[in-house]
Amino acid sequence: MSINKYLNKHLPLNFDLSNKIFVITGANSGIGYELAKLFANYNATIVFACRNKEKASNAINNLKKIYMNAKFAYLYLDQNSLESVDEFVNQLFLLYPNFDSLILNAGILFADPDSKTKDGFYLVNGTNFIAIYYLVNKLNQLIVSSSVSYKHKIIFQGSFMTMFSKYKKGALSNKNSHSFKTYNISKLGAESIFYNFVKNNSNTNVVYALAEPGACKSNIYHNLNKILIPIADLFMSVFFHSTEKGALPAFMLAANPNIKNGDILIPRGILSLSGFPKKGKVRKKVKRNYLTILNEAEDLLNSKYNL
Ligand SMILES: NC(=O)c1ccc[n+]([C@@H]2O[C@H](COP(=O)([O-])OP(=O)(O)OC[C@H]3O[C@@H](n4cnc5c(N)ncnc54)[C@H](OP(=O)(O)O)[C@@H]3O)[C@@H](O)[C@H]2O)c1
Repeated sequence: MSINKYLNKHLPLNFDLSNKIFVITGANSGIGYELAKLFANYNATIVFACRNKEKASNAINNLKKIYMNAKFAYLYLDQNSLESVDEFVNQLFLLYPNFDSLILNAGILFADPDSKTKDGFYLVNGTNFIAIYYLVNKLNQLIVSSSVSYKHKIIFQGSFMTMFSKYKKGALSNKNSHSFKTYNISKLGAESIFYNFVKNNSNTNVVYALAEPGACKSNIYHNLNKILIPIADLFMSVFFHSTEKGALPAFMLAANPNIKNGDILIPRGILSLSGFPKKGKVRKKVKRNYLTILNEAEDLLNSKYNL
């Protein structure tokens, strides 16, 4: 089935998102860019939350030419800096207090072993997990204390790699590994934030949802070991699906006004690597580890900032 056919089958006739605002982190590239396209196709307002203004502007200009009825905006967000995360959350709430969905999509795969965020966290966990934990906590505080009652969806971009994660207490203070090891833990962390907020959510104005995109050939593999690239390319062309298809789980969650707190969409294929979205469950690894990994992140954050 083509993506258009899938969308026509699953969305109401004349589906329109004109009055809705969707904020996508890392919208300038890969799955985030495809998500922006999907929202633009239904005339939404899309806020690009990106660290590189030039890349975001180029992406916005490309989409403006195709989707005349969509609206685009930019907000600066660098998940390598908690100061930037603070500023982003404040700006988001100031400029778009009525946003419909925030899709926490930005992420990295590999990093040099010693590289760290501005606050001193090892880069992969700092970007994919700790910054997001900090961001969602800050945003949740603002939503809870707000007198205005808009309904918001906070959508996490998880990964099937969570099921291969091997987390042990202390792992967040280990150097980045130039392999999937650290990445898997960072995505376990991201899915743990989702699970924790779902469990403790007593605010009817916000729902937390999780999307897993499956495996998609995107820029995230750009710093793979050069020798491995031809093998990876071959592997990806057989087992991976397109970034457009990878964007569908997050899109279907955001586009659906009736999603419930805790909803999960993942690709329906083997190991949820590829295919159209189906309902998913919280992964066992997440249920087993979420408290320990979040406590570890909190301890690290408390040593820098007060949560
Ligand atoms: N591709 C897959 O197979 C796959 C599978 C499962 C899950 N995912 C998840 O899907 C999400 C999107 O990945 P993708 O495959 O689309 O990768 P991508 O094409 O590399 O896009 C990643 C996006 O994240 C942004 N980003 C990276 N570090 C950032 C930071 N410090 N602050 C703000 N933005 C930052 C990038 O910005 P720049 O362009 O400025 O670097 C880019 O816009 C990630 O969370 C990833 O873990 C991907």
